[in-house]
Amino acid sequence: MIFIDQNNIQIPALGFGTYQLRDKACVESTERALRVGYRHLDTAEFYHNEAEVGKAMRNSQLDRKEIFLTTKVWPTNITKAKFMPSVEESLRQLNQDYVDLLLIHWPADDENVNRAAVDLLAECLHKQYARLIGVSNFSITQLEQALKQAPIVCNQVEYHPYYSQTDMLDYVNAHEMFVTAYSPLGQGNVVTDNTLKDIAANYNKSVSQVVLRWLLQQPNVSVIPKAASEKHQRENLDIFDFELNAEDMEQIFALSEKNKKYC
Ligand SMILES: NC(=O)c1ccc[n+]([C@@H]2O[C@H](COP(=O)([O-])OP(=O)(O)OC[C@H]3O[C@@H](n4cnc5c(N)ncnc54)[C@H](OP(=O)(O)O)[C@@H]3O)[C@@H](O)[C@H]2O)c1
Repeated sequence: MIFIDQNNIQIPALGFGTYQLRDKACVESTERALRVGYRHLDTAEFYHNEAEVGKAMRNSQLDRKEIFLTTKVWPTNITKAKFMPSVEESLRQLNQDYVDLLLIHWPADDENVNRAAVDLLAECLHKQYARLIGVSNFSITQLEQALKQAPIVCNQVEYHPYYSQTDMLDYVNAHEMFVTAYSPLGQGNVVTDNTLKDIAANYNKSVSQVVLRWLLQQPNVSVIPKAASEKHQRENLDIFDFELNAEDMEQIFALSEKNKKYC
């Protein structure tokens, strides 16, 4: 595993995404992910699965401190009146005293609302609802403003070979933050790419493995692929025994000319 260090907290760079996992299938899949070795879970109030993710954590019998847990506040709840009750409800659903990372899921259109929300996010640190705070889907301009107000450590954004995040990464690296790459497999769309298939064949790895490796070979990038099946979960975890060479890294960077977003 590769770890990202933030405020002396070691974050497993490879995590498990839970969007679209619901009910019993979510509990089973998340429990399986913890059993095969994932120690970083990504959920959100919007996913309606916080209770199931929390249940999987308890069922795993792992020490709470071994798991890095992220949740997010949905934009309709980032107003002054709704923010804290929404975070408290997430903690209640998760059946946890705290999350490791709390994010604003999407910025609001009104920058005054975003500014007020970042102050409330910072208050969650003082209330010990979260050990770290961050944002998601923020532009560089919005991130700049947020950083003036609070110790934001992360921006979670869509990032895969078909969509460049070079400018965001330059900004994040200059400010000692990290990016979490969501939809790292382009929601499954990149696995049929012929360039990626050729590269993968050279390393005797799958396309998913090569894409996740490409992301993790970039400094301060974390990834959270979602995979329901044990086969895919294990495959996505098995990426620490090889390294992509510079030429292959560049070939994958060049695929971003497709400029495709899935979210
Ligand atoms: N902050 C945000 O706004 C935001 C937005 C979107 C997503 N997210 C987070 O990011 C996570 C991941 O993104 P995502 O779910 O959109 O897409 P993704 O992880 O890029 O792709 C998931 C798809 O890829 C398939 N897959 C996984 N491993 C595979 C493998 N080894 N070989 C072939 N196919 C494979 C999965 O199928 P199976 O499930 O059948 O294995 C699923 O259909 C989400 O679960 C969520 O936690 C955050």
